[in-house]
This record gives sequence, structure tokens and C-alpha cells, in this order.
Amino acid sequence: QPHTDSTGRRVVVAAPRGYCAGVDRAVVTVERALETYGAPIYVRKQIVHNRHVVETLEQRGAIFVDDLGSVPEGATVVFSAHGVSPAVRDEARGRGLKTIDATCPLVTKVHHEAKRFAREDLDILLIGHAGHEEVEGTTGEAPSNITLVQSPADVDSLEVRDPSKVSWLSQTTLSVDETMETVRRLREKFPDLIDPPSDDICYATSNRQAAIKQIADHSDLVIVVGSANSSNSVRLVEVALEAGATAAYRVDNAGEIADEWLDGVRSIGITSGASVPDDLVQGVLDHLQRKGFPVATEERLTEESLVFALPPELRRDLRAGA
Ligand code: F3S
Repeated sequence: QPHTDSTGRRVVVAAPRGYCAGVDRAVVTVERALETYGAPIYVRKQIVHNRHVVETLEQRGAIFVDDLGSVPEGATVVFSAHGVSPAVRDEARGRGLKTIDATCPLVTKVHHEAKRFAREDLDILLIGHAGHEEVEGTTGEAPSNITLVQSPADVDSLEVRDPSKVSWLSQTTLSVDETMETVRRLREKFPDLIDPPSDDICYATSNRQAAIKQIADHSDLVIVVGSANSSNSVRLVEVALEAGATAAYRVDNAGEIADEWLDGVRSIGITSGASVPDDLVQGVLDHLQRKGFPVATEERLTEESLVFALPPELRRDLRAGA
């Protein structure tokens, strides 16, 4: 039972939360690259979608760029966890850049599925959000086969070349429930719809959603720590509200918690997105204690033990002591 203070108030922090295996690997990749090759290390796009992580790496000599055009000839560039399209790899090769690929292996898996479905000449309905870097990367693998589906409502107006040759894939960080609803409607429209060999929504996304769901229905307030451009963090706010939280907000850190949010609140649930270092969550818990709330209790749904090896091109240089 969660710890409750004499006024009946309580704070429950969800687990799993925070860093996933892909984010941990991507951040460590940039850290090791800085140690091994020295600053500056260029990173295409934000290595992971968290403001604090990006600022900390910037202080250590990482330079984040939006496109490879800003990377000087011969420099080292890291591709972010969200993945890149083949066109970006070609451009890097053409410009003679040394590249380290920190794409999450679970995103790479979706790229492989896209290539395979395209080879089979299927239309691919990619469920995801327009403009997200992961969607841009995956789409680049098979641009003429892929159509983006952003919500269940998009399904009605979809047109394909041959309704008997249609498959679907998804971004890794979507709402599990909404995606299942989209797939249900897709299958209604295309009964021969071909599924990916395994779920594209990753273990970290589903675990974080399931963990906050358990807590949200008895929370007056849910606080999700994560940045505004972090897809999985934004989804956690939606999932909490859908699961019955009276209110739910996303903050980058404790400094963004408004005092009014805490007025009359008795139970608070806390979680964080997959790109969020846990000291930011600790900062939120400390802040709540300063506001008179009790020490938090952790409610753990499941254990996570997945760890990804660093990119092979970096491991080689680490071994060689470059
Ligand atoms: Fe990878 Fe999922 Fe994290 S796709 S980067 S493990 S949120």
C-alpha cells in the first residue's frame, strides 16, 4: 500500500520509467565518442528527445546539427537513436564523414521490415506522426511504398494500389491502445492486411504506458517528466488521462510544476519518458516533499533487463584505443 501521510496524501512513482536500452546506448555512444576521439563530436538531430541530455552533452563538446551540411569535411558524426533514411547515410558517405550509428536496434528492426515488405511489393501503411525523425527515417527506406497513417480517423480516406497486398508498420513510441484501434480499422477496410512479424511499439513504450495506467486511475494528478518533442513522453500524458487521472501534465523538470496544480490534490502519480534521466524525476519528488507531500512509494509493474551493445564501429575503436 502506498505510504499515506496523516492528511491522507500520497505520491506514487511508476516503474518502469525513464531510460530505455536504446536511449542509454545512444547517450553512452556520444559520451564514449567524446572520450575516444575528443571534442567536437557532431550529432545529427537531438541524440534523444530530452533537453537536459542534449544540454549536458553540449557542455562536454557535442555539437547538434539539423543536417549534415553543417558538419565539416572529415569530422565524426553520430546518428541519433531515432534512425536515419538511406539518403542521409549516402550523403555522409559522399561527404567523407566518419559516422557512428546510434539508431536504436528496435528502430532498425522496423527499417528491415519496411525493406522486406517493399521487396514483396506491398503497400505499407506506417502508423506514426508526421515530421517525427523516426518516421522520416523509416519512410526513407521505401518512400514509394509507404503511406503515413496518423490516427484511426485517417483510415477511411486511405487509398492503396491493391487492397489484397497491404501491410502495416508503426513508429516505436505510440499509444498502444490507439494503435490497436487504428489496426482494427485497417483490418476492417483491408481484410488481407499483413502484420509485421512482431510488435513495432517497443517494450519500453508499452511498459511505461502499462505502469502509469495502473496508477493513473487513482491519481488526482499525474506528472510526466519529459520534453515536449518526446513522442513517448507526450503519449504518457494521454494514456494517464484516458486511464482516469483527474489531471495530467508534462514537465521538463520540477521548476515547471505550477503551485495551482497541487491545490486540493491528495494523490499524485509520477512517471517519465524513455529519454529522461532519473535525477529529473528525483527533482520532482524533492519538490513535492518541499510542498508538504509525503515520501514517494514506487509501484513496479515489471522488471526490465534489456541492454544493447554499443555500435560496432565505436567498439572497434574503443578496443584499438583510438
Ligand atoms: Fe528504442 Fe524504444 Fe527506447 S525504440 S530508443 S527502446 S523507446
